[in-house]
Amino acid sequence: MTLEPFRQHFSRTAYRTALPVALMATALSAFQAWLWSDLTAIGISVVSLGFGLIIFVVTYSLHYLIHFHRLQFINRVTRDIYRKQFEDYSELPARDKDEIDHLLRQAVKASETIEREISRLNKIENYRKEFIGDISHELKTPVFAIQGFIETLLNGALEDPMVNKKFLEKAMGNVNRLINLIKDLMDISRLESGERKPRPVNFSLRELIGEAVESVQYKAQKEDVEIRLKEFDKNLIVYADKDQIRQVCINLIENGIKYNRAGGWVEIGLQAFPKKSDKILLYVKDSGIGIDPAYLNRVTERFFRADKSRSREKGGTGLGLSIVKHIMQSHGENLYIESQPGKGSLFSITLPRPGGVVISPEEEQVDYHLTQNKKSTQGS
Ligand SMILES: Nc1ncnc2c1ncn2[C@@H]1O[C@H](COP(=O)(O)OP(=O)(O)OP(=O)(O)O)[C@@H](O)[C@H]1O
Ligand SMILES: [Mg+2]
Repeated sequence: MTLEPFRQHFSRTAYRTALPVALMATALSAFQAWLWSDLTAIGISVVSLGFGLIIFVVTYSLHYLIHFHRLQFINRVTRDIYRKQFEDYSELPARDKDEIDHLLRQAVKASETIEREISRLNKIENYRKEFIGDISHELKTPVFAIQGFIETLLNGALEDPMVNKKFLEKAMGNVNRLINLIKDLMDISRLESGERKPRPVNFSLRELIGEAVESVQYKAQKEDVEIRLKEFDKNLIVYADKDQIRQVCINLIENGIKYNRAGGWVEIGLQAFPKKSDKILLYVKDSGIGIDPAYLNRVTERFFRADKSRSREKGGTGLGLSIVKHIMQSHGENLYIESQPGKGSLFSITLPRPGGVVISPEEEQVDYHLTQNKKSTQGS
């Protein structure tokens, strides 16, 4: 159907309705005049045609008034869909009075669905572009470093006992960095695609924290950082994905060690929650370098490093907290970050505890001393 009649304010639909109605009215009035009046044939024709004309005009006008505006609206919505321009169609009728209203509402619904889908696809596309850019950037440094060391070795350094082992060790360090990066990228992509959904089970938090601390103890010793483990109730059971929460704890404790100073400490404990609460708050607090308030909101972004040189020097990928955030979000739990530059940081997570568990009455109230800069990442 061409749009021209709409533009010229001529409604073909109204015309098509009015014409048969007018023809029928003409025929009926001619028949009636022939039966009941003594008009001549010409008189009968004139009266019937006049009557038919009036019926045509009235039917056309009524149809036009009732339907044309709504047909124009449908035309506008479908035209906008075609042009990928979406508006707020607030003139939508409150309820369906007839088929045209129904059609109109369906057109608006289709437009909303398409708008949502297009913005979702745009977001994915932007995310993909950004992700590829970030990865290429992150891969570039270790790959070029490995290339440089190997080239130097091949160009003669291999025969030089003063440097050959050192260069090989440096190349190996960069290979390890690449491996960490690939592992973290695989984790992120599995978390984001929903492939790595949490499989919650009941487990003892004390046991899990013990395992996490054990796995990073050697790093703490190397950095001369003391790990202070607060007393955990042995009856404290939480309901979450054990492997994922272990990964979260290791990430947070490792950060506390890495971004600390020689002779510093990392403390792991529980903050008191109301006894009947179905959540607990686990915290990892450190005496480290802290985070600049300007960066506090950004540390959970992929590849974001507040302290670039230290993170790289320690082989960090900048993905650790991003993974932590994803894990907490997929559990529907929260991650809170507080920090004061030069004094230390406090990372806390909420964890669900199953009903009916006995919690020690002496749960300790932690004195944070770090209340200035706060950030919370809410689970979605
Ligand atoms: N406890 C902390 N104290 C000070 N800064 C921190 C702390 N934890 C994280 N940061 C800052 O946030 C940035 C992001 O942390 P994240 O754990 O995501 O990456 P990373 O530690 O650099 O690398 P990865 O964890 O992948 O090995 C770090 O580079 C660091 O600058
Ligand atoms: Mg980290």
